[in-house]
Amino acid sequence: MFKTKIAPSILSCNFLALEDEIKEVEKAGADLIHIDVMDGHFVPNITIGPLFVEHIRRITSLPLDVHLMIENPSAFVDDFIKAGSDIITIHIETDKHILRTIDVIKASGKKAGITLNPATPLNSITYAVKEADLILIMSVNPGFGGQSYISAMDEKVKEAKKMIMDTGREIDLEVDGGVKASNVKKVIDAGANIVVMGTEIFHSGDYAKKIKEVREILGE
Ligand code: DX5
Ligand code: ZN
Repeated sequence: MFKTKIAPSILSCNFLALEDEIKEVEKAGADLIHIDVMDGHFVPNITIGPLFVEHIRRITSLPLDVHLMIENPSAFVDDFIKAGSDIITIHIETDKHILRTIDVIKASGKKAGITLNPATPLNSITYAVKEADLILIMSVNPGFGGQSYISAMDEKVKEAKKMIMDTGREIDLEVDGGVKASNVKKVIDAGANIVVMGTEIFHSGDYAKKIKEVREILGE
């Protein structure tokens, strides 16, 4: 068992070969499949919905880590639950009643994540952290793959780790955006235990080699 979980984001894969792409990262040692759901409102891009998640569910046994970058997420969580998501992560900026939505997700037996944009202060989730199964720190402004990691997020990851430790609960800490072999060590040293990697893996040409490189860098 590796300490760090690597979650390839399919946003950067070849969608015309989605099944092969997912099977290949699974074989290469990925721990989760990160699925970016975008609605063209909360973020300036449109991707996929529950139907896609349902199809992905049929071709992999890896946990599906569904990142909802959508307005009004509470209206759609049931669909993503039924589609076979394992983790459903909601942006604090989009849900006025996030604790209620977290309850719905957890009551279905799935894991509930809370995420926040780079400029959103961490104290916006102070009273929600202990209810979550996962905190996701966005290290780019969401909407696109292939952006650069915002270095001010190093401090935010450290503070989030402290916040989690203070709850005394086991809560995953995930980082998403611009994570590469070149900066993964500092992200993990800051306290994360799950890293999303989109372009770094899917544009690498050799997924197994890239994941092995990351594990070696982390000493795992
Ligand atoms: C950004 C998405 C990310 C993205 C990461 O809005 O949430 O998951 O796919 O891609 P990279 O690793 O290329 O920054
Ligand atoms: Zn994401």
